[in-house]
Amino acid sequence: MRVKFKIWRQDNPNAKGEFKLYEVDDLTEDMSFLEALDHLNERLVLKDEKVIAYEYDCREGICGQCGVFINGRAHGPHPNMTTCQLHMRSFEDDETITVEPWRATAFPIIKDLVVDRSAFDRIIQAGAFISSKTGTAPEGNSILIPKETADKAMDAAACIGCGACVATCKNSSAALFTSAKINHLNSLPQGEAEAEKRLKNMTYQMDIEGFGNCSSTAACEVECPEGISIKNIAEMNSRWFWRKLLG
Ligand code: FES
Repeated sequence: MRVKFKIWRQDNPNAKGEFKLYEVDDLTEDMSFLEALDHLNERLVLKDEKVIAYEYDCREGICGQCGVFINGRAHGPHPNMTTCQLHMRSFEDDETITVEPWRATAFPIIKDLVVDRSAFDRIIQAGAFISSKTGTAPEGNSILIPKETADKAMDAAACIGCGACVATCKNSSAALFTSAKINHLNSLPQGEAEAEKRLKNMTYQMDIEGFGNCSSTAACEVECPEGISIKNIAEMNSRWFWRKLLG
């Protein structure tokens, strides 16, 4: 299999970036997308050229490190799939595949396809935790949680923080990410004690980081590899509504 990769190259945050075209052959349909990029990098090393910088860790769809735009879509052409789970059989022989980094003011480019997503870390630090005494694990049934509540919290907890929601939103909003992290803990009895503080601190931090307002287009839900629902955003907004109403 042979493809042309049209890849964004940028040496550092302040350099002027540009697309460069690379022809790669000897690929197989069973290769993952990242393996194809590895293959291209091996060729570049042999030619004494600078390798393409891109991020990954687990390569099994759970760490959220590997996000890039592929042919204009976050994580490529398939729904509910991370870049590392994508295979070359999803592309045509001789296709030109455009690969670019997440584009958002709050995610500045570090190099080539790597962006700085530490804004997400700071939102997490602002409240996505519970304070509890350490000790032995409590008995599982000591706090009973209705199944619907547990399911809702676990659905929100599935967010891997890849940033596709921000990259795909025309306002570069982090509302889906932030609301999922808030609702995960605020839905559960263990998160109740700090629910108010969590809601306030995490949404404030989201604004401080320079993310835009929710565009209400639901593009984030469509491109989210974990299928996180925009109902989370509605719930976050409704929590704010009640907070303001009740003073
Ligand atoms: S490398 Fe971990 S989700 Fe893709």
